[in-house]
Amino acid sequence: MAVAIYPGSFDPITNGHLSIVRNGLVAFERIIIAVLNHPTKSPLLSVAERIALIEASLPNGGANIEVDTFDGLLVDYARKRGVRVVLRGLRAVADFEYELQMANVNRHLNESVETVFIMAQDAYFYVSSNVVKEAARLGGDISKLVPPVVGVKLKEVYPR
Ligand code: PNS
Repeated sequence: MAVAIYPGSFDPITNGHLSIVRNGLVAFERIIIAVLNHPTKSPLLSVAERIALIEASLPNGGANIEVDTFDGLLVDYARKRGVRVVLRGLRAVADFEYELQMANVNRHLNESVETVFIMAQDAYFYVSSNVVKEAARLGGDISKLVPPVVGVKLKEVYPR
């Protein structure tokens, strides 16, 4: 079975992430969304909150998608799960350098794990968790950029 791990911070999940999952399911039979649990990254939302928002937003009721969490090296998590493909989304050119570096470090750490990229849909090329949080904090309308549950959550976090 063709399985890929789609890792990220997902702090919070955006419509851009969800489009990568939907498009990823064209190429893979199953996708494991792996939420990074990184104590020093000081995310806005806890791992449990991020997972709950992802699970409430999944296309097709979450068919062929698993949501999990990991800490430590991504390649170690991939080995533990017996998965050899990492899926990442690419938006504008600005993503390229960071993604190239990460893919090559991961390849250096474990050359049997390969990274595959899917181009973000043009509607979402400018959407990131950071941009969404900033806009929500300042009272902007983010309803077209995130799933409804995330909009509700960010209103709780940033009441105005
Ligand atoms: O959504 P993000 O923050 O761009 O995702 C980055 C992520 C989680 C994929 C990356 O930081 C990661 O894999 N972290 C785990 C530690 C690791 O394996 N780092 C790469 C080699 S140093």
